[in-house]
Amino acid sequence: MKIADRTFIISGGVSGLGLATARDLHAHGAYVSLLDLNADNGASVVSELGSRAKFFETDVSDTEAIATAIAGTVAWVKETGKSIGGVVAGAGVGMPGLIVDKNNEPLSIESIDFVLNINLRGTLDLIRQAIPYMTTNTPSGADGERGVIIMIASSAAFDGQMGQVAYAASKGAVASLTLPLARDLSKYGIRAVTIAPSMFDSAMTKMLSKKVKQSLETSMEFPKRAGVPEEFARLVRECVGNEMLNGTVLRLDGAMRMPARL
Ligand SMILES: NC(=O)c1ccc[n+]([C@@H]2O[C@H](COP(=O)([O-])OP(=O)(O)OC[C@H]3O[C@@H](n4cnc5c(N)ncnc54)[C@H](O)[C@@H]3O)[C@@H](O)[C@H]2O)c1
Repeated sequence: MKIADRTFIISGGVSGLGLATARDLHAHGAYVSLLDLNADNGASVVSELGSRAKFFETDVSDTEAIATAIAGTVAWVKETGKSIGGVVAGAGVGMPGLIVDKNNEPLSIESIDFVLNINLRGTLDLIRQAIPYMTTNTPSGADGERGVIIMIASSAAFDGQMGQVAYAASKGAVASLTLPLARDLSKYGIRAVTIAPSMFDSAMTKMLSKKVKQSLETSMEFPKRAGVPEEFARLVRECVGNEMLNGTVLRLDGAMRMPARL
């Protein structure tokens, strides 16, 4: 899929991995529609990127909010003539908690719902609502491609640590839905790829204590450091451009396998 002169919808697009993706696709000529809760970051990213970027304040766990953002994006696409080439579902949260705590209290259903509603339901809902505007694209290239869906899982999809049942469930589900999504969309020439990063520098990992971060870095093979968001964005760019990437989950993790506990 060509990047230039296409519109990409990026949730979580004003921070961390989503922002690096937005900057990279934008630098390669894309229009970026950024859906995020963080309106302050949204305003500053739009002022940085200029007229090829639009921000929609959106909670991806709210179906109506996604519908409004998609409608706004479609109206923008009508103005620019730059069709929707892809979705990067990057909005995500972590809320650690043991399944049962030291007082024998089970993990609250509210915290489980919070994580699943954003990371899993929000991802699928965004994709579900964007796809009808991609299936009608004019096919491009020798293979007649219409678009690409890129999702973000995590190392926790495979080796979730203690305290990560909800997060691992949400990311494991995103990894699992990649192949059936690709199968559903194949007849339209739309691909689906998931990237599963290990630890990358972002607002999310800034909240980790120095001790936890160092411990995670120790469990990396090479390089022994957190990834930088630009390295993630480079893989997104390859996922957009390489038509053979479809229905698969790509680990981007410096051979890190997370230990049970830190
Ligand atoms: N950074 C890492 O080490 C790492 C590792 C594996 C997976 N991930 C995943 O990568 C994705 C991006 O995370 P990041 O590290 O860039 O974190 P980040 O906190 O920098 O960015 C996440 C963005 O999502 C937005 N967001 C949160 N809840 C939202 C909601 N309900 N609706 C809309 N937007 C919402 C936040 O406002 C923020 O801008 C997440 O899905 C995360 O789980 C991150």
